[in-house]
Amino acid sequence: MPINLDQFLSLDDNGNFTLDDGNDFNKIAKDLQGNILKSHGRNHAAHIFIEFTDKHAARAFISQKVAPKITSAKKQENDSIDFKTIKDNGTRKSNGTRMFISFSLSNAGYVFIEESARKPNEIQFVNGMKSSIGKLNDPNTSDWEKEYRKNWHALLIVANTRKSRVTNEITKWKHLLKNKARTHIELGKTIRNNDGQHIEHFGYVDGISQPLLVTKLSENISIKNWDPRAKLSSTLVVDKGGKPEISFGSFLVFRKLEQDVKSFKQAEIALAKELGVHKEYAGAQIVGRFRNGHPLISEILPQNQSPAKINDFNYDSDLTTGTKCPFHAHIRKMNPRGSGKNEPKEKEKTHLFVRRGIPFGENHRNTNQDDPSEGVGLLFMAYNQDINNQFEFMQADWANNPNFPNQPTPPIEHGLDGIIGQGAIKTKQNYLKGWEKNAEIKPVEGIGGFVKLQGGEYFFTPSISFLKSLSDNIT
Ligand code: HEM
Repeated sequence: MPINLDQFLSLDDNGNFTLDDGNDFNKIAKDLQGNILKSHGRNHAAHIFIEFTDKHAARAFISQKVAPKITSAKKQENDSIDFKTIKDNGTRKSNGTRMFISFSLSNAGYVFIEESARKPNEIQFVNGMKSSIGKLNDPNTSDWEKEYRKNWHALLIVANTRKSRVTNEITKWKHLLKNKARTHIELGKTIRNNDGQHIEHFGYVDGISQPLLVTKLSENISIKNWDPRAKLSSTLVVDKGGKPEISFGSFLVFRKLEQDVKSFKQAEIALAKELGVHKEYAGAQIVGRFRNGHPLISEILPQNQSPAKINDFNYDSDLTTGTKCPFHAHIRKMNPRGSGKNEPKEKEKTHLFVRRGIPFGENHRNTNQDDPSEGVGLLFMAYNQDINNQFEFMQADWANNPNFPNQPTPPIEHGLDGIIGQGAIKTKQNYLKGWEKNAEIKPVEGIGGFVKLQGGEYFFTPSISFLKSLSDNIT
């Protein structure tokens, strides 16, 4: 009988969820790769794309070199407890966090190592990201970076708080892969604002709102208006290549999204002028939050609040007019928090997934250099249980859909998501000429197109026992 993952979900108000010994979930967590249930949280990461040249060498490399080094969900939890203890005690200077390592295979990778019978059969995964270009309004592959026009077999992620340790790790893995594979490396680096919060390159605090899979609810997290807790089955998939009952994996969506920061900032200024409002308020109407993460839906103007406190909101007070937070705003399109109206609230929530992205490129904030138009962006990564119902649904049916959220009655066009919308970008978006109630709405030619896909792929992050099992039958 298939295991019911959600029995392990004990995220009650007391936050009693643990990965303790004795708990059945412990067995699953030892076989599940890290970064799925919780972010690895390291500041530096190398994403090593691999195309193997020999099946046997690939199987031996994965089972003997990679599998023993993988950071399981359980190990990730232990490492983070150790790191916290060292930091809190101040007993010795921490040498950074332990190295985080994960390994994922594409459909082409499974086929190459002759594991077609044990690979997941989700159609989007099998066909790969390139076959969804039309559905997602993605640029043609001829416009992707050259490296992404190929079909990569695998993605190895190594991450640490220290850049030097990631650099050493890259050298090590490249050496191990010499004469066995072709590689391409994408470096990711977290960037922060002056308050130390994680931001993306347009300058907005990111990573505030996530489905919470195993995070304990602390006093800081209030769930009155929006409950971020999600079922494990929203993310984990049975790994038929692993051991029955304990082996799970998840689909990893990887997209290299370049950000034209210069044009985005110019658009914020032009919009502010057109609306007669402050540039910060204009930008907030594109994102749905101010730069410091404060949501537009809030009754009060931004002030210093912890991000945890500013995720407990929904759009009930602004259902039909979009006069607090415009309907096209990125966070409103990407999570209408039960107000999308196309489907029941619980069904709507099933489209959400955990985001595990990290910025790439140099941080130009606080430098004298001009804002970059290229070379920086987000290595967007997200774990999905069902790519069709989650990532692709969100991009195609929400971000690219000028009618979503489906409000008011009859619905009106609100334009595309100003951050990631692709397609009819110029469709008018409705902006607000003031913060006050009943402020005038001004339709403006659609603002967007500042984020460009440079390439990507769908991977599956399998159980560790599957990776180990590849040593069998090496002839
Ligand atoms: C370069 C590209 C992107 C940028 C700059 C960006 C920026 C942001 C920012 C600033 C936030 C607010 C912080 C937060 O609530 O956590 C956010 C939230 C979010 N983004 Fe993005 N994002 C990008 C791509 C994407 C993509 C490709 C998707 C999905 C297809 C996506 C889905 C979401 C979701 C689901 C949220 C949380 C909404 C909520 O729960 O309120 N983002 N993003």
